[in-house]
Parts: sequence; C-alpha cells; structure tokens
Amino acid sequence: TDETLGLLLSRIKDVPDYPKPGVMFKDITPLLADPQAFAALTGVLTELCGRYGATKIVGLEARGFILAAPVAVQAGVGFVPVRKAGKLPGATLRQAYELEYGSAEIEVHAEDLAPGDRVMVIDDVLATGGTAEASLELIRRAGAEVAGVAVLMELGFLAGRGRLERALAGAPLDALIVV
Ligand code: PRP
Ligand code: MG
Repeated sequence: TDETLGLLLSRIKDVPDYPKPGVMFKDITPLLADPQAFAALTGVLTELCGRYGATKIVGLEARGFILAAPVAVQAGVGFVPVRKAGKLPGATLRQAYELEYGSAEIEVHAEDLAPGDRVMVIDDVLATGGTAEASLELIRRAGAEVAGVAVLMELGFLAGRGRLERALAGAPLDALIVV
C-alpha cells in the first residue's frame, strides 16, 4: 500500500557526498532499526516471491543478505548467498562484471543452484545493474531459472533496468521505490 511505501521511504536516509563527493548515499540502517518498517519490507518482498513461484532466494552480499535472509525464512524456501569473490570454501561459479572504474567478481557455491530451481534475487539497491546482472548470469550458468529480481530501491537515472533487460529474459524486476 501507499502507506507502507511511505513508511519505507521515510526510513531511508539520504547522505550527501558519501562515499565520495557528488554521490547521494541511500542509508537503509534507519529502516532496519525500525521493526515495523523492516517487517513491512520483508512482508512485501515475501509476497513477491510467492507471486513469482520462487523456490530459492539469492541475496547479494552484503546489504542484500540483510533483506533476503528474513524473506527466505518467511517464504519457507532456502537462502543462497552470492558473495564477493574469495569468500566461499567450496566449488564455485564465478562471474566478473564491470564497475564505474574497473571490475569486480562475485561467486556462488555451485551445489546451491540446480536445474529445477526458480530463483528470486533480492538486493537493497539497483544502481548501474552490474551486480544484479552478474547474479543472473550465475543463476543461468547453474542451470536454474530466474523467478525475478526484487530491490527496495532503483536509482532510475543510472539506467540499471535497461542493462538488466537481456539477462532478465522476460522475468520481472520489481523496485518498491524508484528515485
Ligand atoms: C551496492 C548495493 C548493490 C549494488 C548496486 O553494493 O548494495 O548491491 O551496490 O550497484 P550496481 O547496480 O551498480 O551494481 P556494494 O557492493 O556497494 O556494497 P555492499 O557490500 O554494502 O552491499
Ligand atoms: Mg550491495
């Protein structure tokens, strides 16, 4: 509802010039600290996972973990961490992606995703879309299906939605708040 979205929006703090001059950082820690807002957010994301028939939830390190884990518990499905490279002990799939300057790599345990899985990706922010796009590549390389991507916030001016279009291949991208 509009009331829920208003509550969520009111608990996101704009921090100018962080982490560098000219950047407006979206701080979600006030939302996490408000049990009513955090529960409302978890509820909305859980509803989306049900609607799209997700059988697994992928959370993107680090802030995506915070949102995705309670959703997985509430939805009654497994949680799969997609981590920054070098943190997982087992056999992994690794995917590189481009950043504003340079590149980065993320990884998932190969045994956590398999054909037959319908995977929902959850993160706090969609900015350029690089992180989410790489996670979708990992899911497909594992042979699993993408149920959708859900984020709390989409930074529309960075055009991440367009960048993700190919990797989504028709799967839904839901942003609760677009700024
Ligand atoms: C931030 C944010 C998203 C990502 C979005 O994560 O949490 O995961 O950037 O950017 P993109 O759409 O341009 O890829 P970041 O890696 O900065 O930090 P975190 O570990 O705190 O989540
Ligand atoms: Mg992140």
